[in-house]
Formats: sequence, C-alpha cells, structure tokens
Amino acid sequence: MSFVEFTNVCKTYQMGDVEVRAVDGMNFTIERGELVVIVGPSGAGKTTVLNMLGGMDSATSGTIMLDGTEVSALGELALTKYRRHDIGFVFQFYNLVQNLTALENVELASQICDNPLPAEEVLAQVGLEHRMDNFPAQLSGGEQQRVAIARALAKNPKLLLCDEPTGALDYLTGKQILKLLQDTCRSTGRTVAIVTHNTAFTQIADRVIHVREGRADRVHINAAPADALSVEW
Ligand SMILES: Nc1ncnc2c1ncn2[C@@H]1O[C@H](COP(=O)(O)OP(=O)(O)OP(=O)(O)O)[C@@H](O)[C@H]1O
Ligand SMILES: [Mg+2]
Repeated sequence: MSFVEFTNVCKTYQMGDVEVRAVDGMNFTIERGELVVIVGPSGAGKTTVLNMLGGMDSATSGTIMLDGTEVSALGELALTKYRRHDIGFVFQFYNLVQNLTALENVELASQICDNPLPAEEVLAQVGLEHRMDNFPAQLSGGEQQRVAIARALAKNPKLLLCDEPTGALDYLTGKQILKLLQDTCRSTGRTVAIVTHNTAFTQIADRVIHVREGRADRVHINAAPADALSVEW
C-alpha cells in the first residue's frame, strides 16, 4: 500500500441547478518521503484535491487513504483530529495571525498538537532565528511564508500540503521558498505536496501529478530531480 492513495475520487459542488464536477474520477498514489508537484491549469481541481487530502473538504465518492487510514471515511471529530495532528498546510497568502509575533504564530499551532517540534528550532530551520519577535507586518512576503512553513512544520505533520506557496512572491523569493520546501523534504524525510500551475516546478519533484479537468491526466517520476535554485521560468 502506498502512503497516499486516491481511488476513483469525485467531488461535485451543487451551484443552484448546476452540478460542478471539480474532481471527476481522480486516481494517483504518493510514496512516503516524496516531494510531489501537482500541476495543472486554473480550474483543473488542484485545490480541491489538496483540500480533500488535508481533510478540509470531503469527497463525494471514492476512497482517500493516508498512511493506512481511510480519510474519506472519517467522521467530523476524527477529521478534526486528522487536520490537527497529521496535516500541515501552507497557503498562497500565508494566513498568519497579524497581532501575534512570528514565534507566537508558530506556538499557536504547536500548542494544539501531541508531538510538536520546538517553535524556536523550527523557526531557525527556516532561517528566521533573528525575526522571531517580529509581527507579520514587519516581515517581507518571503519571511511571512517562512513563518507559515515553520507553523506547519512545528505540528510535526505526516504530510505538508502547499497550495501555490510562491503565488504571492517575486521570482527570487519564490525560488528560495521552493528550495526551502525541497530541503525540508530531503532533510526531514517528510512527504511534501506542492500545488502549482507553473510547469517549471515539475523539475524539482520526485513525482509529478498532471491534473486536467478533474483527473490525474498523467503521472511521472523524476529519476534525478533538479535543485530548486537551478530551475528557471
Ligand atoms: N466551493 C465551490 N463551489 C462551487 N464550485 C467550486 C468550489 N470550489 C471549486 N469549485 C469549482 O471546481 C473547479 C476546480 O476548482 P479548484 O479550485 O480545485 O481549481 P484549481 O485547479 O485549484 O484552480 P486555480 O489554479 O485557479 O487555483 C472549478 O471549476 C471551480 O470553479
Ligand atoms: Mg487552486
């Protein structure tokens, strides 16, 4: 059994009389410790896939497995625990609490977990040892995203899910964030999934899942992924 398994997963949204098939028979697997890039055009269903995998949205049908747990069969309470303990989420616009410092933002997440990593240690890992007492408004976009990554990692999650993590950043800063995610995957052995519409990012991944019209159109394995800093777009 693979670490992650999507089997015939569908997600439909009812918009008045219209049924939107956001995900329409999705099949793929992910192995433990892989850096995965989920790539596809706008509206392809990438965010919906990530949200279902992270327990933030439920599948209409099909089976989602993570590390032997059938996520798609969990009830509300179990799903809350799953989101809290097993998943770290990184968003395009960071979603930090503005009136808390970088350190407090990270502590907020680790306080709700069973086996958190020390907040200071994780902030140092992402290169922010000197900015721990700064508020989000005093940090650059790249630094704020580093805090968001530290916040997700401090939970010591099984899976780190990133939805367009460089979408709000300039070219070089975006590249450094990609590098940080790649290094995190390599040095901690943590499974990391990055959603993007940028096909250049596929070069850094161990596994690439191409999503089109709600399906995994094609999956390919990179035998020799590129270093994130060497990728150009
Ligand atoms: N809550 C919702 N209600 C209705 N339709 C939705 C909802 N969420 C997503 N959709 C629809 O499902 C489809 C897939 O959306 P999704 O957000 O997963 O795409 P995406 O690949 O992440 O796109 P983007 O690159 O623009 O972020 C789209 O047609 C979208 O309009
Ligand atoms: Mg999206």
